[in-house]
Amino acid sequence: MSHTASPLDLHDPSLPGRLHRAFDDLRRQEPVHAIADGRWLLTRYDDVAEFLKDRTRCSTDIHAVRGYDELRPFGAGSDLERVQEGLLINLPDAEHRRVRGAFTRPFTRASVESSLTRFVEGLVDDLFGALPDDGVVDWVAAVARPMPAQVFQFLFALPEAQLEWLLELLHQDTVAIDVLLSPDLVSPADLAVATAAFLDLRREIDRLANERHGGDGEDLLTFLLEQYDAGVLTWDDVLTQAMEALAAGTSTTSTLLTGMVEGFATHPEQWELLRADRSLIRPAVEEALRWVSPALSMGRVATVDFELHGVTIRAGDVIQCGVLPANRDPAVFDDPHAFDITRSSRPRPDGKKGAPGQAGAAHVAFGGGTHTCLGAHVARLEARIVLERLVERYARLELEPGAAVLHPTLLIRTYASMPLRLRST
Ligand code: HEM
Repeated sequence: MSHTASPLDLHDPSLPGRLHRAFDDLRRQEPVHAIADGRWLLTRYDDVAEFLKDRTRCSTDIHAVRGYDELRPFGAGSDLERVQEGLLINLPDAEHRRVRGAFTRPFTRASVESSLTRFVEGLVDDLFGALPDDGVVDWVAAVARPMPAQVFQFLFALPEAQLEWLLELLHQDTVAIDVLLSPDLVSPADLAVATAAFLDLRREIDRLANERHGGDGEDLLTFLLEQYDAGVLTWDDVLTQAMEALAAGTSTTSTLLTGMVEGFATHPEQWELLRADRSLIRPAVEEALRWVSPALSMGRVATVDFELHGVTIRAGDVIQCGVLPANRDPAVFDDPHAFDITRSSRPRPDGKKGAPGQAGAAHVAFGGGTHTCLGAHVARLEARIVLERLVERYARLELEPGAAVLHPTLLIRTYASMPLRLRST
C-alpha cells in the first residue's frame, strides 16, 4: 500500500509531537489529503461536519469499502469479523437504526444523570481521597484511567477482580486501532496481540451474558439481554454492543479527563476564571472536548464518485473526517490552539451561523449525524464532576517536566501518564 511522506507521514514516529502543525498545513494547503490509495483525510471544519452527517455521498457500511468482500481483513467467518461488522460505527443505515434504537434509552442525558450522578460523585470522592493537598501525582494512574473503567464496571456490573484484566485487554486492542486506517500501520505482532485481546474480551462477555441471561439485574448487559429476549437484538449484537461501549468509552474518556487537566495546567488564567465563576464548568467541559478531541478522526465510505476541493473521490474510497483538525480550524474557532473556556459565547470568525443556542460553532468531538457518540452524556458527566471537585480543592495545577506521554495512535489519542503538581494554596 502506498503512502505519502509529507506532511502527514503516518510512519514517522515524530508525528504525534507535531500533529497540530501537520494538520494546520493540510487544512490550508491540501484539505482533501491522500493518506494512502483510496484513503482521504478531511481537515476543514465545514467539510468534516458535513461528511459526518452526509448520507447521499457516503455511508458507514464497512462492506461498501472497495474490495472489502474479497479482502475480509478481519478473517472470513471469524468471531473478530462478526464483532467488527456488527459495531454501530460500521453498520449500514437500516441495521444501525435497529441496533442503536435498542440501546439508546440508558444513554439519554436524563437517564445518565439520574442513574450515574451519585455513583460518579462517590467514585470521585474515593479517588480524590488518595490525592495529596500539595504534591505530585500521575493524574492518569490516579484518576483518569481508573475512573471510566469503574464507571463501566458499575454500568455493566462487571466482576471487580476482572477490571484490571479487562482494561489491559482494551488497551491492547487500542494499540492496533490504526489498522482500520491503513493495515500497514500496525505490525503483525501488535495486530496478533490485539486480535487475541479482542477475542478474549468477547469470550468473557459471552460467559457473563450466559450467566446473567434471564436474571433481573439493572445493569446494561441485562438490559441488552432483555432486547435479545424481545427479539430486537441477536446474541452477537448483545456481545458486540457491550464490547463497543467498553472499547469506545474507556480510553476516550480517560483521554478527555487527562487533556482537560492539561488544558488548565497550560492555561493557568483559565483555571483562575473557573475558580472565580463555577457557571463556567459545563462550557469548560465542552472546550476540553474541542481542545482534546480524544477521537482524532472518524471514517465514512464514499458510495458514489464525486469531487471535493478539486479532488476526485471514488465510490469505495474511505474518507476520514478529521475531528481533531476540524476542532482546531481557525476559520471557525479564533485562536484555535488556545484553551479558552469562554469561547462558546463568541461568534465564528468567518461570520457563518453558530450552533443552536450558542454564538460560536459546536465542536465535533462526539462526531455527528446518526452516529453521534452514544455515550456523550456519560463522558460529560464524569468530566463535569471531576472538574467540580478539582476546582473546589485546588488553587493551582502544574505540569511536571516530561508530562503527557501520548500513545501514538492516529485514531484515538491516549496518555500513558501525566505527572501533575497539585497545589491547594
Ligand atoms: C470523551 C469521550 C468520548 C469521545 C470523545 C467519543 C467520541 C465518539 C465519536 C467521535 C464517535 C463517532 C461518531 C460518528 O462516527 O459520527 C463515537 C461513537 C460512539 N461512542 Fe463515543 N466517545 C466518548 C465516550 C463514549 C462513551 C463513554 C461511550 C459509552 C457508552 C461511547 C460509546 C460510543 C458508541 C457506542 C458509538 C457508536 C455510535 C454509533 O455509531 O451509532 N463513547 N464516540
